[in-house]
Amino acid sequence: MARILITSAIPYINGIKHLGNLVGSQLPADLYARYMRARGNEVMFICATDEHGTPAELAAAKTGEPVEVYCARMHGVQAELAKGFRLSFDHFGRSSSARNHKLTQHFAGKLAENGFIAEVTEKQFYSVADGRFLPDRYIEGTCPNCGYEKARGDQCEHCTKQLDPTDLIEPRSAISGSTDLELRETKHLYLRQSALKGELEAWIDSKTDWPILTTSIAKKWLHEGEGLQDRGITRDLKWGVPVRKGEEDWPGMEGKVFYVWFDAPIEYIAATAEWADAHGHSDSEWERWWRTDKGAEDVRYVQFMGKDNVPFHTLSFPATIMGSREPWKLVDYIKSFNYLNYDGGQFSTSQGRGVFMDQALSILPSDYWRWWLLSHAPENSDSEFTWENFQAAVNKDLADVLGNFVSRVTKFCRSKFGEVVPEGDQLGEREALLMEELRTRIRAYEDHMAAMEIRKAAGELRAIWVAGNEYLQAAAPWTVVKENPAAAAAIVRLSLNLIRLYAVLSEPFIPDASAAMLAALGTEERSWPEEIQVALNVLPPGHAFTTPDVLFRKIADEEREEWQKKFAGVRT
Ligand code: MF3
Ligand code: ZN
Repeated sequence: MARILITSAIPYINGIKHLGNLVGSQLPADLYARYMRARGNEVMFICATDEHGTPAELAAAKTGEPVEVYCARMHGVQAELAKGFRLSFDHFGRSSSARNHKLTQHFAGKLAENGFIAEVTEKQFYSVADGRFLPDRYIEGTCPNCGYEKARGDQCEHCTKQLDPTDLIEPRSAISGSTDLELRETKHLYLRQSALKGELEAWIDSKTDWPILTTSIAKKWLHEGEGLQDRGITRDLKWGVPVRKGEEDWPGMEGKVFYVWFDAPIEYIAATAEWADAHGHSDSEWERWWRTDKGAEDVRYVQFMGKDNVPFHTLSFPATIMGSREPWKLVDYIKSFNYLNYDGGQFSTSQGRGVFMDQALSILPSDYWRWWLLSHAPENSDSEFTWENFQAAVNKDLADVLGNFVSRVTKFCRSKFGEVVPEGDQLGEREALLMEELRTRIRAYEDHMAAMEIRKAAGELRAIWVAGNEYLQAAAPWTVVKENPAAAAAIVRLSLNLIRLYAVLSEPFIPDASAAMLAALGTEERSWPEEIQVALNVLPPGHAFTTPDVLFRKIADEEREEWQKKFAGVRT
């Protein structure tokens, strides 16, 4: 049994996430967490809301709520939707928690002590019309790197380049649109990433098993242009973690807060502490996941995120950890994703384009979405959601293959033998071949899951479902029963056991259907199939079951067209 720490990039608090966000971090992280638990490992799966910074302030300003109130409310909304999608976090924390305030200030103090913080007096944009400084997203303009016109002051969404507001071409206020901007002096703290460049580079070079998408982005920021830049980690904002040096005041930094990207990844740790607090555990319970001097040396830590998050997780956050010179756990593996597009364009939160988590659940249960999204995860390139493709995949994989198998087997058994597993006969050549195929495919499925090759894993699972269907079709118990009821009973008995096997194997992808299958079979037996023979004999003759309702319904053409229309515009 291994110990596996899993974090998903923590979603911004500002509004409900779209399916592109979901498939880029939280959902694949959940898949992996569920799989690792199913294999008997000890898992700690952490997520949280990312509550500080300009996105939160801007969104709260729009609804007219105080920012604390807005964040508390939206945390509740996101937590509910996470439940709706069956995201099995051990804890869904908040980056505004007391734990995160304390830890963030602690890291800043340690970094300062070790000489990795520089105090810099610099000029920042001040908006005369708005009467305030304009950090990060309070300012917009054209990206100097790719020419995208809606680049934000902190990062260009289009090319992923991290930016400083002063890099923008034709900057304007995101609050008022005003271009009446002045450069005024203000003092800020910088994380001296450049001083840690050698260490970071050696560490990244040691990660030879990381996906190219991850390492290539990291190397780009390490080497391109003037190389790794120091990053400002404080802001002239009210909402955030107040700048302190550990427990002490920081002279000259009064009234300022840490930059959201400084405190957000620290929340991975803080959220684990929040988990311990919520369960009445002592500090040692969360520290054994995070402190290599307190038991975390044998933890494997895996992070999931979209590609725009990679620079922060390969460079900035590791720099924070390394620079603390304390024995905190560094990430072991980063699984990053490309973008999911929506029907010929991009999903966009700011423009309300695409399908958002609440809308998705309002039209179909989560398993439909989980299956499509995971089996089309944008791993090696961007991928695209189209309603046609969604309809086709649901109807074929879920309804025609898996759902139909379950329904045919249980209904046939009920009609011929009643709702109990029948006695049956010896199994023959066809069954031996099926088992051989399953054995090979299950091992391949395990390998893909362990390697987080999600599309390949989905493909293998689909093939496992297909194998059962084809077996049933060829074995044709409905014909055999006329001549040889005992032989038909053997086929049915094996097939009922196959349903249980499918429930266990499919659980990480479609947990609700899996639970429905096990409930119908009247079994709690979810142990992973180590030996196929054993796995297909779990339900003994005489074991009672109930015939389940339709597991997956088909999406009709009219419905698809209706949804296509409904979600063609933008959400307001
Ligand atoms: N909120 C960020 C986003 O959605 C992710 C933050 S991940 C963390 O892109 F590491 F900073 F926590
Ligand atoms: Zn750009």
